[in-house]
Amino acid sequence: MAKIRVKKQPPKKTAPEKHAAENEAQIAVHWKEEEYFQPSARFIGQANLNNPDIVERFSEKNFPECFREYADLLDWDQYWHTTLDTNDPPFWKWFVGGRLNASYNCVDRHLAKSKNKAALIFVPEPENEAHVVITFQELYRRVNEVAALLREFAGLQKGDRVTIHMPMIPELPITMLACARLGVVHSVVFGGFSGEACGLRAADSRSRVLIYVDGYHRNGRWVDHKASADIAVATAKKEGQNIDKVLVWKRYPHKFSSDSPMILGRDYFVDDVLKEYRNKIVAPVSMESEDPLFLMYTSGTTGKPKGCQHRTGGYLAYVTGTSKYYQDIQPDDVYWCMADIGWITGHSYIVYGPLALAATSVLYEGVPQFPDAGRPWRIAERLNVNIFHTSPTAIRMLRKAGGDEPPKYSYRFKHMTTVGEPIEPEVWRWYHQVVGRGEAVIVDTWWQTETGGFLCTTKPALDAMKPGSAGPGCLGIYPVIRDEEGKVVTAATSAGNICIRNPWPGIMQTIWGDPDRFVSTYYKKYNTNPHSKDWRDWPYYAADGAVHTPDGYYRILGRVDDVINVAGHRLGTKELESACLTIPEIAEAAVVPAVDDVKGRVPEIYVSLKPGVVQSRLILDKVTSTIETMIGKIARPKRIHIVPDMPKTRSGKIMRRVLAAISNRMDTGDITTLANPDIVEQVRQIVQGRERGPLNEGPADIKLFGEER
Ligand code: WTA
Repeated sequence: MAKIRVKKQPPKKTAPEKHAAENEAQIAVHWKEEEYFQPSARFIGQANLNNPDIVERFSEKNFPECFREYADLLDWDQYWHTTLDTNDPPFWKWFVGGRLNASYNCVDRHLAKSKNKAALIFVPEPENEAHVVITFQELYRRVNEVAALLREFAGLQKGDRVTIHMPMIPELPITMLACARLGVVHSVVFGGFSGEACGLRAADSRSRVLIYVDGYHRNGRWVDHKASADIAVATAKKEGQNIDKVLVWKRYPHKFSSDSPMILGRDYFVDDVLKEYRNKIVAPVSMESEDPLFLMYTSGTTGKPKGCQHRTGGYLAYVTGTSKYYQDIQPDDVYWCMADIGWITGHSYIVYGPLALAATSVLYEGVPQFPDAGRPWRIAERLNVNIFHTSPTAIRMLRKAGGDEPPKYSYRFKHMTTVGEPIEPEVWRWYHQVVGRGEAVIVDTWWQTETGGFLCTTKPALDAMKPGSAGPGCLGIYPVIRDEEGKVVTAATSAGNICIRNPWPGIMQTIWGDPDRFVSTYYKKYNTNPHSKDWRDWPYYAADGAVHTPDGYYRILGRVDDVINVAGHRLGTKELESACLTIPEIAEAAVVPAVDDVKGRVPEIYVSLKPGVVQSRLILDKVTSTIETMIGKIARPKRIHIVPDMPKTRSGKIMRRVLAAISNRMDTGDITTLANPDIVEQVRQIVQGRERGPLNEGPADIKLFGEER
């Protein structure tokens, strides 16, 4: 991987760029230092975290015991004896000896004080359908009934895995909490993934049971989702995993809304079976702190997604503590995180963190701009939402489609979050001034599926905000930036690879079924002594480029590996490439990130054809449909280029960085060492010749982080 370095002065727009881009961090937008924004006195006065002494309490000299403060927010069946066990690095163990149940902590324990409080407010996408309020009492009943069904009807027990492929409806968190009640490890697959993608994940986790819904509303359309279940079952079978039961929720309880048939002896309607478990109570299973709570598959540098395995005690403590201090959730707040529960943000900051704090949380089925870009603000006004949480892609989209909508509605946010991708300062300012009315505090939270919870962000009442910068390390998180050789990068303007020096309770336990991959992906790079039992020798490598500024803030540039962050969702370029290679006409495929003004990055696909195959529209359509079938609609490429050949090194390696430079209209750098330098100009003609506008001018705000020689 190439080294990256941020230039102090942005080069002039017309100056030729010297070096080529290969990954997201190198195509990062060049932002100048921004001014600070202070949280309002009104916010500070009411905040959960407004005493600066906490920074000292979480300083390194108090590590790891500082994290007791988070674990003490939970109810434990048995208190732990060891806060952090580092005997088997990097397989850390947290709160060892402790026992607890996550479902009990998110539901049962709130009944005494808050049983009539709204836990979830479900907002259907069709605007003429009323929202549905589920109190903690109702949540308790429903979680128990589903737990009884899973245990008795589906035969699931502690340690079994279950794959859940569901959209944003209340039955999703209810099912997750029912699993957690039994100690069953849930693996939720994002609803937008295809049946095939779900089947592969189900097989990898060795799930015998799949949980589905017949269909749902999305962007004004009815999505028939049950059909995916059949594909998932067939795919899992091909991988050697039998699915015995498919449990199907109905989006509308008394009506089956799918064209796909129910398979006798395999498919069951949850609502029908549930009748037998009405008002059944299932005692929460007392789990060891280190027992796994869930798997979440995410893309990496190979063609195969990896199952990030999260632990019960440490994870729950970490998301509860960070929800309290960084989301500032308080008893009377109405909290709305617009992320999807099928991603880690939804697990940590819709389900587990907020519910452990007895929050009232809005769950919205649809897309933000349906039927128009005023929808989120109407929901906020109607439900009195005062904490709002979303991604830069959603913010860009809402700004583009309805930049003057927010003032038309009377809501008042005290706190807003942005998560999942870098946010441009200009977009940040719109979020702050127009959505937040200059009054709401913003936290830009940087973290990952693997990390369970936030890693860098400002403390909302204590730190000034700086547009485009995530902020300092979170409480008890000690980040560091290293160069490729492992040297710590201290110079204020240098970029490098951001790492976390220490373990923390939210970090994943391992990759499901592949502990070696866990070590090699996240720890090998900067570990100098594999036998060391000292956590200081095991920095966590995040695969993100970042800059550290003298104020102690981190600005995240983007991925430095073969992952592209599309609209805040991770896609592995290798996954896309291997999908392309299943098409018989295609000889080679390369996928690179291209800058997009709404989605941040989008994958662009380059394919070359086998000898004798004639280019046609049909091949482009095949690429799109294959990707939709194998991965899902979210991975649909924006542009596909058929090229005569790929730029290659003399050893035959495809030079993706040259293609990325072409896609992003940057200079391709030195190409004289390529085996086929002439191809570069041909490819450029094909790609840029099709576009509108002057060919020799790239987007004004895109600058290259050149390679250091
Ligand atoms: C990126 C999402 C800039 C980053 C929670 C990371 C961000 C990847 C931010 C993880 C942020 C996440 N600023 N970039 N605030 N938050 N990222 O696993 O590249 O879906 O590695 O987790 O998103 O994506 P994931």
